[in-house]
Amino acid sequence: MQIKTVTSAENLSVDALALICFEAEEKKEGQSQPPASVPDPPLAAQAGWLADLRSSGEFTGKLYETAVLHRPQGLAAKRLVVVGGGKREKFSSVEVRRIAGTLARTLKGKGVRSAALLLDTPNGDEYVTPAAEGAILGAWEPDVYKTDPKKAEKQIESFTVVVPGVEAATLQAAAERGRIIAQAQNFARQLSNEPANKLTPAQLAENARNMARESGLECQVLDQQAMNKLGMGALLGVAQGSSNPPFLIVLRYRPAVPSGPDHLALVGKGVTFDTGGVSIKPAEGMEKMKYDMSGAAAVIAAMRALAQLKPGLLVTAYVPTVENMVSANAQRPGDIVTTLSGKTVEVLNTDAEGRLILADAITYAKRNGATHIVDAATLTGAIGVALGQYNIGAFTNDEPFLQRFLKAAKAAGEKTWQLPMDEEYKEYLKSAFADLPNIGSGRQAGSITAAWFLREFADSTPWVHLDIAATAWLDEGKSWLSKGPTGVAVRSFIELARDWQQIL
Ligand code: BES
Ligand code: MN
Ligand code: ZN
Repeated sequence: MQIKTVTSAENLSVDALALICFEAEEKKEGQSQPPASVPDPPLAAQAGWLADLRSSGEFTGKLYETAVLHRPQGLAAKRLVVVGGGKREKFSSVEVRRIAGTLARTLKGKGVRSAALLLDTPNGDEYVTPAAEGAILGAWEPDVYKTDPKKAEKQIESFTVVVPGVEAATLQAAAERGRIIAQAQNFARQLSNEPANKLTPAQLAENARNMARESGLECQVLDQQAMNKLGMGALLGVAQGSSNPPFLIVLRYRPAVPSGPDHLALVGKGVTFDTGGVSIKPAEGMEKMKYDMSGAAAVIAAMRALAQLKPGLLVTAYVPTVENMVSANAQRPGDIVTTLSGKTVEVLNTDAEGRLILADAITYAKRNGATHIVDAATLTGAIGVALGQYNIGAFTNDEPFLQRFLKAAKAAGEKTWQLPMDEEYKEYLKSAFADLPNIGSGRQAGSITAAWFLREFADSTPWVHLDIAATAWLDEGKSWLSKGPTGVAVRSFIELARDWQQIL
């Protein structure tokens, strides 16, 4: 999808031109009702249609509601679409992103090839990037393996963002940024969506390598032998049950002119399939465990965007990737492994594999100079119990660093909620036979004990852990986003690196 920008809707010959209309505000005594929307001169001719829509109750301005008028008078566009903006005072870039996504999704099945969205609200210029993002994200479908030959005909080819009164170059730059970010997020979704027979650890590494070559990033892939030599016993223990060998993917972005001494490491859990191992998972829903590499996908995709956006910060991605399988060689409950850090771990449950591979990757990131670490992992089912599907769970050993991350996440429109890491929770992590068990005793605070396990390896390096188990996959589609992989955390990662100096 091509993203364009213009400053006037008047002569825009597109298949559909959309404008946002808000819910009618409460009528106060002595005040006259404000107009349904405040249309620009070329749109003023549509006021009658808008008024009829409202009085008939067909359109109330509720968020993401739409109505379509064909051949609007005085406009070059073939259709005029009104889309609900909800309550005017609650309107923000989050709604803009979703409105653009809703438009892309509702219009693409209706023969619309070119669409436009008019942003004549205050802050219109700030909404260009999220509008571009929303359209590209909304258009994405998890249907690569469907063979419908008509698929290509249902695509929107161009999406134009219309913002009156803003300089054209500024507009286009904001749209371009949105395009880069959303295409990266869709790349992450594409990777997460791949079934485990099409995306093994080797194929994930191959994807990363190809992306690095195309983007001008450094890429290094450590194989089993190299990891064995280094002593990554935790990662290798998880991998030993699969005939698909593990890898540690390293991607590096070097700024032309570093703006400071910091070195950010992004670490992503890359379990291409999680059966649970010998502590096997129930059959129901196990097919979804193909998305257990969504942290890896987010990290790899964010690196692609950084190569294009070129921030002044050194960023290295570390992606441990394995398949957690059941076999005669599989790791057993009770096995004790020695991690790269030297700490020993008693594997009480082979299904708590993510933290094992992340432990070695975090240690490796520190050894290679990371001053700050953020990891993303589909780590625990318990995070969905705590937060549902609406917030990423965040954990840290460094409060100021987390605050910085939260600021980036908010700017990127990815809801993130901090969970506590009081010392008391560490009491749940006791092993009689090794330095650490890989699960907590009892079933309480499962996401926090998992985070504490990782923290033992991050140690004193500022670190943020994101548990995306419940946010990386949408079980039911929304009007603005399809069902399936969400590509969550990609936008926050990009924003964090992009704004590193400003959000100190
Ligand atoms: N990959 C799972 C976590 C997960 C669950 C991701 C649901 C997405 C949806 C992880 O490896 C896992 O199995 N965690 C266990 C930990 C337990 C054994 C302590 C869990 O959450 O049940
Ligand atoms: Mn597991
Ligand atoms: Zn897992």
